[in-house]
Amino acid sequence: MSIASNKYVIGNWKMQARHDHGLKLAREVTENLEQAPPPPFIKTVICPPYTQLSEIHKNLAHHESPSCPALGAQDCYPAPSGPFTGDISAKMLVDLGVTYVILGHSERRQNHGETDAAIRQKVKAATAAGLIPIVCIGEHLAERNEGRAASVLARQIEGSLTRGFRGIVAYEPVWAIGSGITPSREELQRKLNVIHALLPMRLMVDDFRVPVLYGGSVTAAQTSSLFSIKGLDGVLVGSASLEAKSFLDIIRAATESLSSSPS
Ligand code: 13P
Repeated sequence: MSIASNKYVIGNWKMQARHDHGLKLAREVTENLEQAPPPPFIKTVICPPYTQLSEIHKNLAHHESPSCPALGAQDCYPAPSGPFTGDISAKMLVDLGVTYVILGHSERRQNHGETDAAIRQKVKAATAAGLIPIVCIGEHLAERNEGRAASVLARQIEGSLTRGFRGIVAYEPVWAIGSGITPSREELQRKLNVIHALLPMRLMVDDFRVPVLYGGSVTAAQTSSLFSIKGLDGVLVGSASLEAKSFLDIIRAATESLSSSPS
């Protein structure tokens, strides 16, 4: 699978959407995408809570359309198995039909004290299990205001990614998540340039271009503008992915924007 040439719309449901809501949401998104499929290079992924993965996967399996969303999880444990109460391994996710896993989200870095080194171990485990890791990076507001964003991004890229990383990076400035505030086009372009310049240094290979997504208060209204930014390969959507209409509007806006000016 060539992950580098795709554009992505990924919904991170976080610890939201109770069971019935999640199943209904997945069904509505899937049925709509089946009726009006986006072009094949637009990959849609939904990342529900662990508890919904199995049933959503079974429901998705009834739809054989390639336009169905893929399934992602929101974390995994670095070890393949063992006495780790409350944890879920990458292989267990694969057993449930999961193909992507979000790692190092700022909410996990903050609430669970996840370090770059711990995230790198998870990236290794996810990759070994055959999952595509989506690694989140991004600076806090104070770091941005003190002009330290680039060094934070460099540290996170160096620490969280493996050499030969084959996955996706999501730039999610912590101050933009859930705040309704998004970076200006100019700021986002600058940050994407920094990230794209840093990635080959970390990866030490130039035969793979890592797709870089943006996340933080994404809505359908900004999607066209976002997808016209050079070096942006998709969006990681939080609250706007919790309603089928707003998530589908983002997919439609991405489709229109990319169809009118393919990059
Ligand atoms: P919001 O879109 O709700 O700001 O969340 C973004 C996010 O954290 C996605 O991972």
